[in-house]
Amino acid sequence: MAELVIALDYPDAAGAMTMARNLVGAVPWVKVGLELFTAEGPRMVTDLKELGFKVFLDLKFHDIPNTVKGAVRSATRLGADMVNIHAIGGRRMAEGALEGRDLGLVPGQEAPILLAVTVLTSVGKGDIPLENAPEPGDLALDLAVKAKQYGLSGVVCSALEAERIKGRCGGGFYCLTPGIRPADKGAVVGGDDQRRVVTPSQAVRFGSDFLVVGRPVTGADDPKRAAESIAREMLQA
Ligand code: C5P
Repeated sequence: MAELVIALDYPDAAGAMTMARNLVGAVPWVKVGLELFTAEGPRMVTDLKELGFKVFLDLKFHDIPNTVKGAVRSATRLGADMVNIHAIGGRRMAEGALEGRDLGLVPGQEAPILLAVTVLTSVGKGDIPLENAPEPGDLALDLAVKAKQYGLSGVVCSALEAERIKGRCGGGFYCLTPGIRPADKGAVVGGDDQRRVVTPSQAVRFGSDFLVVGRPVTGADDPKRAAESIAREMLQA
């Protein structure tokens, strides 16, 4: 069954922890991204795990293989339950990430899920800075097939691509999908940069395993209720 991941995109620990405490019991996963991690560092992962959440450390590593190996080893040591790299980094970088994951494990620790970012959900065709840009969906599918060949556990993609990716890579290959917008929500607080978006029930029907939702929950008047309503919609789908 698909699981809900709330993106804690906050500039400081105080805001993130207040929101997280509000969501205890309502969602299994939270996501620590670039903004929060850059401001507050590794303690965000440990503090959120102490509240009982599984933590997706969304730092989208993309560097030379040795550096990515070290970054994933550090993330694994920290106890992150899910980590991601960019698929476009290629085979050697992905292999470095897998090696780093194995090196970071302590006995008895469950290995974090290692995903590859295909094409960001904010990217439309006109945003790809190439003369003959491929369709984002086609590029995402190609990168997902590669990520599977590299031995990664799944991909970050738009739910619009999940069905095709599952068809090619198999049902056990995870699709984690941001760009979720509940149908009943008007403008999303904080502006909206997402392009390839779907509703929670569409995402589930397309085969998404993890739905990442940020502003529709964190910007809601009652975030816990908003999260519960999305979780209900997922269950019904
Ligand atoms: O607020 P919103 O629901 O758009 O948040 C989506 C979250 O998912 C953000 O934290 C963003 O960084 C992340 N994300 C994304 N698209 C990707 C990968 C991550 O939107 N392809």
